[in-house]
Amino acid sequence: MRKTLALTLALLLMAAALPARAADAMIYQSGFATGTDGWYARSAGSAKVSQLPPNALHIEGRTADWHSPGRDFALVRGTPYTLSVQVRQDEADAADFIISVAHAANGEETYENIVRGTARRGEWVTLSGAYTPGAFDRYVLYVETLGAPTLSYDIRFFRIYAPEGTANMENVKDEAPAVILPVDELPRLKALCAERFDIGLCVPQYLARSAETMAFIRDQFSIVTPENELKPDAVLDMAASRQLAKEDDTAVAVHFDAAKPLLDYAQANGLKVHGHVLVWHSQTPEAFFHEGYDPAKPLVGREVMLARMEHYIREVLTYTGTQYPGVIVSWDVVNEAIDDGTHTLRDSNWLKTVGEDFVSRAFAFARQYAPEGTLLYYNDYNTAIPGKQNGIVRLLEGLIADGTVDGYGFQMHHEITFPTMAAITASVSRVAALGLRLRVSELDIGVNAATEANYASQAAMYGDIMRLMLQYADRVDAVQVWGLCDSQSWRAAKFPLLFDAQRNPKPAFWAVAEALQKQ
Ligand code: XIL
Repeated sequence: MRKTLALTLALLLMAAALPARAADAMIYQSGFATGTDGWYARSAGSAKVSQLPPNALHIEGRTADWHSPGRDFALVRGTPYTLSVQVRQDEADAADFIISVAHAANGEETYENIVRGTARRGEWVTLSGAYTPGAFDRYVLYVETLGAPTLSYDIRFFRIYAPEGTANMENVKDEAPAVILPVDELPRLKALCAERFDIGLCVPQYLARSAETMAFIRDQFSIVTPENELKPDAVLDMAASRQLAKEDDTAVAVHFDAAKPLLDYAQANGLKVHGHVLVWHSQTPEAFFHEGYDPAKPLVGREVMLARMEHYIREVLTYTGTQYPGVIVSWDVVNEAIDDGTHTLRDSNWLKTVGEDFVSRAFAFARQYAPEGTLLYYNDYNTAIPGKQNGIVRLLEGLIADGTVDGYGFQMHHEITFPTMAAITASVSRVAALGLRLRVSELDIGVNAATEANYASQAAMYGDIMRLMLQYADRVDAVQVWGLCDSQSWRAAKFPLLFDAQRNPKPAFWAVAEALQKQ
């Protein structure tokens, strides 16, 4: 009897420690016993994370509440997750912590606070809360403070639970993929491509910090692009710029904290880098366009904005050119300037402040400040749609007349059903006729479900696109896919890449390898 009571009590206690739903399974637990497990300091400043033996992560050097340990997770929209973490601090009698999520949709980052808790000095406290992701294409979970911007603290046992059977196990296994084929038995795309053009991909910061992932990338690819880390919202230091603006409203402050891990790796390992992007309507702080860098104040006028554009381009190209000489071989100078509806310049802050010539001015500044031999690209999507293509070609013709553009980047975010290969072929032929260098800059091909039939169609389209680009090999600089594994893609729900979540090669990988082998 006593035994039964003890057992019941033990079971009850265990149940209390379990997450809300009995059928939940733990799908992720931070692996701080062996390293930082893809966690990094979300910080515009000097905050740093380090492993704290035996199983925790320590953060210090903070100057803002959001300067906190964070990690990207390919969460699945609509899944009712439970998140929990233990937090400890030694510097205050008590401090408040929050698990938060930063998510991005269409390049706009927004935030939600998930759960809050108080940690007394020296005590581990558990924060646990529910979170169901909405429709976003990137999620960073992080553990920040509330009103304690300089506090150093530790976290451990960051766990994610999800209802049993939901399709989410694969999304969090970034660090220890179960490669079925030994890596050495995979054909190396970069070897197959050699002497023709570069083959590459975009790499987000959390992968750039994983030595094992980077070794895999280095073996397969010859060129990389930081996925978000050289975009204006990652590079511009708005707080420091605001200080400078008190003296000179055209001065800009920049930093390269986010891009550094990948640039360092590329430099040390002989990988080329394609820079993305200097001038874009998206992922650029609204404040950049306003007086005193204050979004509450009016937009600045043409002359101020042109000076800011010049200073920004000069700072970025001078820093990267001196710190990483020869590493960044090409840049997207302007991205996505053409509107899908009107096929003329998109209504953007650049158009509003500078006016119609903002594209040609950006290219002129880039030419002036880029190291000799850097290739300058205009990059856009939906080139296979005839109306948009007309707009893009008109813009390119103007730049060609200026003599400032070297190449055109076809993004190629496709579906297996759209556009047709005939339309893609026609678009490449039309742009090639302008005499420009070419690249496929952001290739991914979505399917609605990960079925064998869909994977076969996806592979066929990848193969066709490779064969098409091989026909133009003498003027193609690179073909780059937009990500390594499906689960880490900005379109993760569409399984659009060459490797699956466990980093096994998909039929699409073999189709690319075969296309390259046959030529
Ligand atoms: C995407 C990134 O992949 C996401 O992580 C981010 O949240 C939004 O931007 N065209 C571009 C790329 O030029 O910069 C975009 O990258 C995808 C569309």
